[in-house]
Amino acid sequence: MNILLTGGLGYIGSHTAVTLTEAGHKVILLDNLSNSSLDVLERLQALTGKPFAFIEGDVRDTPLLSKMLADYRIDSVVHFAGLKAVGESLEKPVEYFSNNVQGAISLLQAMNDSGVYKLVFSSSATVYGEPEYLPLDEVHPTSATNPYGRTKLHIEEMLEDVSSSNSEWRIVCLRYFNPVGAHPSGLIGEDPSGIPNNLMPYIARVASGALPELNIFGDDYPTEDGTAIRDYIHVCDLAEGHGAAINYLDNQKGWHAINLGTGQGHSVFEMVRTFEKAIGQSLPHRVTARRAGDVAVCYAKTDKAYTELGWKAQRDLDEMCSSVWYFQNFQISKDKVA
Ligand code: NAD
Ligand code: UD1
Repeated sequence: MNILLTGGLGYIGSHTAVTLTEAGHKVILLDNLSNSSLDVLERLQALTGKPFAFIEGDVRDTPLLSKMLADYRIDSVVHFAGLKAVGESLEKPVEYFSNNVQGAISLLQAMNDSGVYKLVFSSSATVYGEPEYLPLDEVHPTSATNPYGRTKLHIEEMLEDVSSSNSEWRIVCLRYFNPVGAHPSGLIGEDPSGIPNNLMPYIARVASGALPELNIFGDDYPTEDGTAIRDYIHVCDLAEGHGAAINYLDNQKGWHAINLGTGQGHSVFEMVRTFEKAIGQSLPHRVTARRAGDVAVCYAKTDKAYTELGWKAQRDLDEMCSSVWYFQNFQISKDKVA
């Protein structure tokens, strides 16, 4: 199958590109390089031993998308492209609505005009808002607590309306929980510019000595050790979930929302301890105030992914942490050589 990945040079897109290529698909990448670099393209080619078709461009450029859909005879699209930082979305909501919502509209126009109706969309557990019960299943009420979350919710709702308008559409919204980890080769992983917002990349920078210590945002949550609990999922498991979703759309019409998580919650202290075990040294950390907007506990009910997609996360927390460390060291040794 010929599959277009928008935002395909990003963290999740690049891992999915590897998985889909290894499964025998032809992967075509579109990215505007706003949060990635051409270096990733070289690494993807080194990793798979295959050349990738890559177009530098913006998902809001509808004529470009239409041309790509036709030129590469695209069968399915996985839509990763977008902005994803919650804090930044509060400061720049218009940029978020433009990149995410306008980007999705542009893609839908191009797909509709080209008669390409299979779409997998990168959604997020953020669409569940403050959990009313746990684990979070796909019928849990949805809401948004910040502009980033609202873009995901708007897009999901838009996709549901679009799929009702024409029975040809086959759409899966994959609601990711907390993607972490890196490819075992050490060639690709999460490499945010500036100071990371998310826990795992922050831990990796502390471990490498680039940042002095980890701030643990609150130890007074109603959890066993007082720190907040999340459902961390290895990015390679997540990538395989996309392969399963694409296969699923061969036989399923309509709109579907499916969680991608492990179903297991882990606290911040547990993450620190597991990372310390992986690197064989202690991580400097201190407890600070809670971060505004954080929920205490969030983890997925994963039954739907298993029954509908036949997919289940396989990799454990040790593997998530050790792969991050391996990737981090690979970056450092490469930088030293460069
Ligand atoms: P990422 O920033 O690493 O990847 C996104 C890619 O899209 C980048 O390469 C960026 O350059 C590109 N891009 C951004 N705007 C674009 C545009 N207008 N046109 C073309 N390319 C554009 O992020 P990621 O972690 O790989 O996330 C991928 C998707 O998954 C995003 O939609 C994100 O909201 C969603 N998601 C991510 C997480 C997470 O924790 N990483 C969790 C839930 C959902
Ligand atoms: C965050 C986003 C969420 C998004 C997800 C993608 C917020 C409020 N939520 O989720 O919308 O879908 O990323 O991965 O930004 N922590 C620390 N110290 C740190 C960083 C984090 O203690 O330096 C804690 C947080 O309080 C949280 C946990 O670690 O309890 C995980 O945080 P993070 O990795 O930022 O993910 P989420 O907040 O779950």
